[in-house]
Amino acid sequence: MINIRLSIDSAKTYVSNLATFQEKISVAHTELLQKTGAGNDFLGWVDLPSQIENSLLEDMEVQAKKIAHMAEVYVVIGIGGSYLGARAVIEALQHHFSLILPGNAPQIIYAGQNISEDYMSDLMQVLDKKEYAVSVISKSGTTTEPALAFRLIKNHLEKKYGKTEAANRIIAITDEKRGALKTLADKENYKTYVVPDDVGGRYSVLTPVGLLPIAIAGFDIKKIIEGAREMEVFLKSTSLIEDNPAALYAAVRNALYGNGKSIEILVNYEPRLFFLTEWWKQLYGESEGKEGKGLFPAGVSNTTDLHSMGQYIQDGSRILFETVLSVEQSHQSLTIPTDQEDLDGLNYLCTKSITEVNQAAEEATRRAHLDGGVPNLRISINEINEKNLGQLLYFFEFACGLSGYTLAVNPFDQPGVEAYKKNMFSILGKPGF
Ligand code: PA5
Repeated sequence: MINIRLSIDSAKTYVSNLATFQEKISVAHTELLQKTGAGNDFLGWVDLPSQIENSLLEDMEVQAKKIAHMAEVYVVIGIGGSYLGARAVIEALQHHFSLILPGNAPQIIYAGQNISEDYMSDLMQVLDKKEYAVSVISKSGTTTEPALAFRLIKNHLEKKYGKTEAANRIIAITDEKRGALKTLADKENYKTYVVPDDVGGRYSVLTPVGLLPIAIAGFDIKKIIEGAREMEVFLKSTSLIEDNPAALYAAVRNALYGNGKSIEILVNYEPRLFFLTEWWKQLYGESEGKEGKGLFPAGVSNTTDLHSMGQYIQDGSRILFETVLSVEQSHQSLTIPTDQEDLDGLNYLCTKSITEVNQAAEEATRRAHLDGGVPNLRISINEINEKNLGQLLYFFEFACGLSGYTLAVNPFDQPGVEAYKKNMFSILGKPGF
């Protein structure tokens, strides 16, 4: 069953030309399925949910159990597409305060996603005091940030546990054949998982890149794949805008872009979805932002950001639209207590759940922003769980492929990411730069 729904009711007046996108969307759909479009050597993700081997999922579950016995803390090293997908899912599923109230699985912490000396120093202090293990994730195997973090952590592990036990605590996720990390992993005999050749970083969450850390954090990766597989079958079955929500999302985004909206804001009302927004920003930003084109993907977390970005969204330049990620049910409930004196004036809320109050804020904001000239799309899911997240991840990936092709860019390359690296290497004096 598909649990994700897209409503464009609050954007319709801005996209009266929507039907004109059907032809481009149908061509894009065929190009994705038949792998005939630009960047077609990076379309492995399209069939991933239906093709991933059960034995691979089980192998990762075995590793997760092994790690749970040896580590209180698990360090996930990676950046960009080798970081955000795992973190998006783990933070969406875990207890909000899991670092203070840990469960049975190791606490997941992250490294290699910045070059901060203070961050790395703080991390080393934590690792001095905790039993830990580590995954180093890099498709290219040569990215500076994770490579630097791994050098420091490998050194720390070997001092703490000795070389043999350190190797037992390291898993490398990288290319099957190429890259410095592959060479190192082979030489040191690390357990390795492969990032498939035909899957780019930001589309790799449903490979071991995302799935291994998620399993180690204690979540059900088979359910994630089950959800993604249901969405894969559904989205592949038709390219019609009225029947395929990914086709509709891709068409509406392009229509709004063509009609003067240049910023899309992904809005959540659940703090656990913060990193899903970060993952989405990378997916759409790196896929579409090229050749002087593309919507700028931004994010807000409400109601927090209603008190910071709310003014701009309501009243600033009319160049934006919102896509609200709306969650219908919470997992837990709290009663708002009545107070005899009612000095804070909140007794009128006592018959309502906190989720009802949150939903009232969401609906009120939709109406206000629509009145203020901000078209509003709404993607709703009944609740946050593994299966729904699997559906949502695949939905966004498929829609991104359709949307990028409709925009006439290659959604599967990222030439712009290289520019800063060349300058940095030259500044640092790397041989050859
Ligand atoms: O989506 C992408 O391709 C990038 O964001 C990469 O994931 C990121 O640059 C990290 O690359 P690598 O996995 O090669 O270390």
